[in-house]
Amino acid sequence: MIIKEAKFLMSNTRVEDCPAPNKPEYAFIGRSNVGKSSLINMLTEQKGLAKTSSSPGKTQLINHFLINDSWYLVDLPGYGYAKVSKGEREKWKKMINFYFQKRENLACVFVLIDSRHEPLKQDLEFINYLGGMGLPFVIVFTKLDKQSAVKTDSTIAAYQRKLLETWEELPQMFRTSAETKAGRDEILNFIDEVNIQ
Ligand code: GTP
Ligand code: MG
Repeated sequence: MIIKEAKFLMSNTRVEDCPAPNKPEYAFIGRSNVGKSSLINMLTEQKGLAKTSSSPGKTQLINHFLINDSWYLVDLPGYGYAKVSKGEREKWKKMINFYFQKRENLACVFVLIDSRHEPLKQDLEFINYLGGMGLPFVIVFTKLDKQSAVKTDSTIAAYQRKLLETWEELPQMFRTSAETKAGRDEILNFIDEVNIQ
């Protein structure tokens, strides 16, 4: 797929205020700082489209981007940032829960995982939550450029083992780097295929 146009539409806290659900939507979620906003910029080839930061907790709202006038990309705030207060965490949970329950045009959720770390409880819990709701999702391993391919392979194998303890089938998995653009064609082709269905 060629991205001819990518534009920011709006930021919301409430799913009711999001754009009319008349186009397929792809949402990016994962721990704070995992690289959600960077991946959106890499896919769209627009460096400043989604706001990124080296300190976690940058994205706070549900951010909609319109791609090629035909589908939505959504940048969501991350989970698992230790410095967030209990009240803030509850607010995040509520907002995200509503979003996933009510957003009827969700075509697929991209769950981002840092390829440098062994399986983390928070990530496994989040994947199990999505799977439990029956939402279509894939896993995206990020920051490939930060370590060797052997290390990435071992992280992915460890996640596969963990997920097979709960699920019979594994979701599709992608390997990406916002720095080298690894995984860009694979993800855009995947979105193309889902859009055609
Ligand atoms: P929140 O909005 O805070 O939840 O974070 P986020 O998941 O949107 O992460 P963001 O894209 O802001 O990236 C966090 C940091 O990781 C930034 O300093 C990015 O430059 C860096 N980063 C993201 N992706 C990559 C990558 O593929 N490779 C490298 N080397 N750094 C990356
Ligand atoms: Mg972000």
